Amino acid sequence: MNLKPFIHHLLGCSILIASCSPIKEETRITGLIAEQAMVVSARKEASQVGVSILREGGNAFDAMVATELALAIAFPFAGNLGGGGFMVFRKADGEIGSIDYREKAPLAATVDMYLDENGDVIPRLSTTGALAVGVPGTIAGIFEVHRMHGSLQIEKILAPVISLAEKGVVVTERQAASLQANLSILTEVNGPNSKFSKTYQAGDTIKYPELAQTLRRIATNGRDEFYKGETAQKLVDFLTENGGIITLDDLASYEAVWREPIQFDFQGHTITSMAPPSSGGVTIAQILGMIEGFDLKNFGHNSPEYIQVLVEAERRAYADRNFFLGDPDFNFIPTLQMMDKNYLKERMSTFNWDQATKSTDVAHGQINFQESDETTHYSIMDQFGNALAITTTLNGAYGSKLYVEELGFFLNNEMDDFSAKTGVPNMFGLIGAEANKIEPGKRMLSSMTPTLVEKDGEILMIVGTPGGSTIMTSVVQAILNVIVFEMSMQEAVNAPRFHHQWLPDEIRFEKDVFTQVTFDALKSKGYLINESPSPIIGKVDAILKLSNGKLEGGADHRGDDAAVGF
Ligand code: GLY
Repeated sequence: MNLKPFIHHLLGCSILIASCSPIKEETRITGLIAEQAMVVSARKEASQVGVSILREGGNAFDAMVATELALAIAFPFAGNLGGGGFMVFRKADGEIGSIDYREKAPLAATVDMYLDENGDVIPRLSTTGALAVGVPGTIAGIFEVHRMHGSLQIEKILAPVISLAEKGVVVTERQAASLQANLSILTEVNGPNSKFSKTYQAGDTIKYPELAQTLRRIATNGRDEFYKGETAQKLVDFLTENGGIITLDDLASYEAVWREPIQFDFQGHTITSMAPPSSGGVTIAQILGMIEGFDLKNFGHNSPEYIQVLVEAERRAYADRNFFLGDPDFNFIPTLQMMDKNYLKERMSTFNWDQATKSTDVAHGQINFQESDETTHYSIMDQFGNALAITTTLNGAYGSKLYVEELGFFLNNEMDDFSAKTGVPNMFGLIGAEANKIEPGKRMLSSMTPTLVEKDGEILMIVGTPGGSTIMTSVVQAILNVIVFEMSMQEAVNAPRFHHQWLPDEIRFEKDVFTQVTFDALKSKGYLINESPSPIIGKVDAILKLSNGKLEGGADHRGDDAAVGF
């Protein structure tokens, strides 16, 4: 008996009881349907704040500013003031664009700052504590978005965020478990008296009066409050006391950057995604370009053949990603060449239906990027037809774990997204990871992939996810689930996911939803399968514009994610 439709149904029902009818295999699972506008994010409280701004007549850009900050309160695990992110937009008139508010290496950073005298990486130095912190970009990003495209006064936008910080947010079961899992490291880093050095139970409320104060100063004094004002001074003092190297100069010189997004076609759809320093757009362009000629629908969703083709494309795309991509302000990135259809066809020419390609045959070098899963994505569609995909991060869970008590927010550990140690030359003579080595003022390579899909000149889908290196493969699968397999948005989000990233040369599968028959079919062709129960792969929060003009939210049941709309 095929349990998958039932599992999908139950997964859908777990977050959307109202829309689920008694179990029938043919029943279509849908997420929240809204007439005009929607925000889907990692927490209902943050989605509600975003929607409250839309209800007041604000546009999607105003709602982004509010939702981004509300996530620092409702989802401090990844939502932030002390991190960075990317936003891709499509306005109602078809204008597209993207902004990069990724963190930067401090000016005092050096290429070997995480290596010991033998050239070996010192454990934890780039992941925990003040030296792991990159110069935060979030406040610069949202103020730049507001300056260019916002419509409401910043005080009005911040009002519901400040009120949320004061009122606090009720801890969910998942949040209690996550705080408990991180309790000892949070206590070690912040001392025994920190807000997060105690146990919280589900149902407790966590309030953020210090953050409310910080936000009030930002509402009054604008972006410079964070980069040049009292908040900047407090932040630098705090980092210095904790052994950090970020200075007032680092903060004062930080700028968010508008970048031309990556755009490409796939099966009659136009896909717009983030350009470097995110690897997201180029990597999904490569994967989708390499599989475009295959009859995926005929293979069947999550069939061994489908998995095989996708894995081979992922293997090749990630090998390129790891060698070529980095901060475009510091390196030449051969973006167009990497997305060229002939190049992608050539890359797939070694694909063999009978035998898995070995990752070591795809490219030389043993560079294995380790990226954390703890990012967060949200999608916004407003009543005016503007569509925004935003992914933002502290990098690891609660970033560097450093919580600035006086200011009320966590600081990122984004420095760990640089390659702490450069690799060996590849077959093309390129030094692996050279493009992503640490340099002062440079942005570290990211996997964040906020993405928009258009069909016939109209927005069709807004999609993105956390998940570190699994972000691109999750986004690709969500897109294929809708475009090729004609799933609803919620079904596409619910559907089980798998992942391959060149190195390690193994396929990871979500737990308990793929069959032994599938594994055996793949193993018989030489695929290496990581059978240890994989944690969830991605938490996709997406919006689909339906043919009747309504919006369907896809909020991922793998987290506390929620769609709110009207
Ligand atoms: N820190 C996760 C990412 O930027 O991809």
